[in-house]
Amino acid sequence: MEEKKIISGFSKLSKTGKIKWIVENFFKDPESVMKELVSYWHKDHEQQKILDGFSENTISNFPMPYGIAPNFLIDGKTYAIPMVIEESSVVAAAAAGAKFWMDRGGFKTKVIGTTKVGQVHFQWFGDFEKLKKEEINLFNKLKNDALDLYTNMEKRGGGITGIELIDLSHEIKGIYQIKVEFETCDSMGANFINSILESFGNSLVAFIEENDQFKNKAPEIIMCILSNYTPDCIVRAEVSCKIKDLGTFANDIDSEEFASRFNTAVEIAQVDPYRATTHNKGIFNGIDAVVLATGNDFRAVEACGHTYAARSGQYRSLSSCDIKNGQFKFWMDIPLSVGTIGGLTKLHPIAKRSLELLGHPSASELMSIIAAVGLSQNFSAVRSLVTTGIQKGHMKMHLINMLYQFNATEKEISEAENYFMDKTPSSSEVRNFIEKMRKDLNV
Ligand code: MEV
Repeated sequence: MEEKKIISGFSKLSKTGKIKWIVENFFKDPESVMKELVSYWHKDHEQQKILDGFSENTISNFPMPYGIAPNFLIDGKTYAIPMVIEESSVVAAAAAGAKFWMDRGGFKTKVIGTTKVGQVHFQWFGDFEKLKKEEINLFNKLKNDALDLYTNMEKRGGGITGIELIDLSHEIKGIYQIKVEFETCDSMGANFINSILESFGNSLVAFIEENDQFKNKAPEIIMCILSNYTPDCIVRAEVSCKIKDLGTFANDIDSEEFASRFNTAVEIAQVDPYRATTHNKGIFNGIDAVVLATGNDFRAVEACGHTYAARSGQYRSLSSCDIKNGQFKFWMDIPLSVGTIGGLTKLHPIAKRSLELLGHPSASELMSIIAAVGLSQNFSAVRSLVTTGIQKGHMKMHLINMLYQFNATEKEISEAENYFMDKTPSSSEVRNFIEKMRKDLNV
């Protein structure tokens, strides 16, 4: 039986101590793994300290490619968009979509709403009807007690925009919710929202305890937390052109046929959850990459997007297509809760540069940018699927990745690309090709 590798006090070890314990207990070649992990430390000690501050028990950094998709025309402004993604072809697809639409008017976006949501859940066995009658007084107390927490946000144009008392006791005995809506301006607002909700929780207990009508019936606060489902923090991104202006495509596909095949592909993703999941995954290839590059929370954005995709009760495509009266229109409404101040956005050295590269956007402008990249990504993926198939582009990048693994030179890469142009090679075929080339050249 394998010996259990358990340690107490791991977090208290120094960084070197942590690596040492890890490499000695989990690797066959501790010394070289140690060297490798240390080699990824930032050479500037201060920078490394900043990175270490983001998380716990850090032993090294995990590098990811930082790429740029240029030539995005969004609402009449051009952007070079930073993307952090480990999957080949994603940046290329985003850029290809951007180039295609650059010549056809670009992406148009509209921020439909920016409302964030938080909830206080509590258990209570008092008279809910009486509490409901008192709700105005309750809400006033909640807001008054939390005033210090949102005065600054109000000065920036945000704050608390709605409070609702919701009865969930028909679903779970004694459970009620205070649902709160917020405007958090350019910040994502998680800390702001959670602090206010915790204050609301305390004030709710005090309000009920201090009110004679509810004597001896103190509520129990179950939890106070923002909701990552923000269907009213939403942006629409759209592209459109005359069908005849779509041009021609590989395999002799003309614009009419392309529009029809593309539209059918989107319809399939609207009705079939298996296809919808992959279709939406393509959208999030683009969205997550920009969310990450700008220091935002990609788990929150993903969770929200998928819930939104299932809002009808069935998981469906996030994007829609319409081909009517000679017009091709492709669009997506997507909830995106992101910030351009606070959190990692100013702390992470590269996230800071990403925002600078984007021209220091407001949170709303960033919503527009991210939605446009998601739509571009989706357009390129579906375009490939309904014309050439996806493997052609993918295999090209995959081939290059395999060649890198064999430390191929520029010349070897270029010869391999020519040789495998219309083939889908396996890793061993690529190795054989490189070995043969090196043998022929006596390298
Ligand atoms: C691959 O990462 C994404 C795609 O599968 C998306 C799609 O099928 O629409 C190509």
